[in-house]
Amino acid sequence: KTIAFAGSGGLDSCTITRWLTDQGVRVVCFTADLGQPDEDDTEAIRQRMLLAGAADFVLLPVREAIAQAGLSVIQSQACYEGRYWNTTGIARCVLAKAMIQAMQEKGLTIFSHGATGRGNDQVRFQLITNMLAPEFDVYAPWRDEEFLARFPGRSEMIDFCEEKGLSVSATKDKPYSTDANLLGLTHESGLLESLSTPAHFVKPIMGCYPADAPDQAEEFTVHFEQGRPVAINGSPMDLVEAFVETNAIGGRHGIGIGTHLVENRFVGIKSRGVYESPGVEILGTCYALLLQLILDRRAREFFDQLSLLIAKQIYQGYWFDLATQMALQAIQPTAKLATGTITVSLYKGNISFVSATNTAHSLYSEENASMEGIGSYNHADSEGLLRVLGVSARVLATSGQIKD
Ligand code: ARG
Ligand code: SIN
Repeated sequence: KTIAFAGSGGLDSCTITRWLTDQGVRVVCFTADLGQPDEDDTEAIRQRMLLAGAADFVLLPVREAIAQAGLSVIQSQACYEGRYWNTTGIARCVLAKAMIQAMQEKGLTIFSHGATGRGNDQVRFQLITNMLAPEFDVYAPWRDEEFLARFPGRSEMIDFCEEKGLSVSATKDKPYSTDANLLGLTHESGLLESLSTPAHFVKPIMGCYPADAPDQAEEFTVHFEQGRPVAINGSPMDLVEAFVETNAIGGRHGIGIGTHLVENRFVGIKSRGVYESPGVEILGTCYALLLQLILDRRAREFFDQLSLLIAKQIYQGYWFDLATQMALQAIQPTAKLATGTITVSLYKGNISFVSATNTAHSLYSEENASMEGIGSYNHADSEGLLRVLGVSARVLATSGQIKD
């Protein structure tokens, strides 16, 4: 029997690979190059997985794919329950899709992963595999009674790996778990589970906390062309470069670092997380500023509904289903109109608007908004409009419905 295992070279990956191998299972390990900022070099991961017993190691080159998916997150403003940009959720979609394709090429049919039985990732991996390759089986050791009996916790895994001569010292002392890709990092579990552990217990990898950022503000300019960031601070760049560059700039100003508290997982439990996504936070905010110049009230209201839907779809692992396709199609016209240059100021975790120029489809009219008596908007015309609105307002006054 051969199993395809999505592994990152950490404690769980080594334990699972070794444990399965010891039982005569052939384990092919898949690791994705998602442009992780904390990147362990892939050669080291390969060595570790092979040492753990993997029969083969496959590196999935998905940097471009995660950047493209990140663009969709920005264009749809897909934040889950506040300011979590779904960086882990969307990366699972990218990883699982690439892994399933590679498995099909190799004739493998058992998709395995190290996500626990309490989280969102197990749901995402399961649903994505079921949707893209219904003939595949999904095997999750964390939901296997035998595995659980052998490894009730991390300490048993550490003992096991040490006994087998597998070096796990790097993960052994980590007080929480980190998931990483080009779009950001999510830190969860371990000592973070207690709400009395302060969020700044996490040591940021992509930058610093706002309090540690410089006292000097920095201006940041992005030019969007039909919804795509094509130049940062005047320098043209491709999507991957744009994320890398913006991550670096935002990171040093403490943007989008440590912003989450607790969220409602799909399985129903609340979990606590500390997240880092400086680049997505900046590009996403600039995009929102641009969009606000373009969308009228009705388009804005519809967009917000689509945004909420897409955010939930990503979070719950439904990225490939019909509702997501429909919603993504529906926001395409807004992306087509999103051309313009936005400048913001970055200062100790805050992003503030500076200026908008070259906006091709902005509805903002200085003339109409002006307090000066110019343009086609005559203040006196409002007299009639307000008298009409006043009729129903006065009826309310005598209806007994108004409470002051
Ligand atoms: N709660 C986040 C999500 O569901 C992150 C989960 C993974 N995080 C981790 N450190 N393993 O998308
Ligand atoms: C896990 O439980 O495997 C990670 C967190 C999550 O999936 O929500």
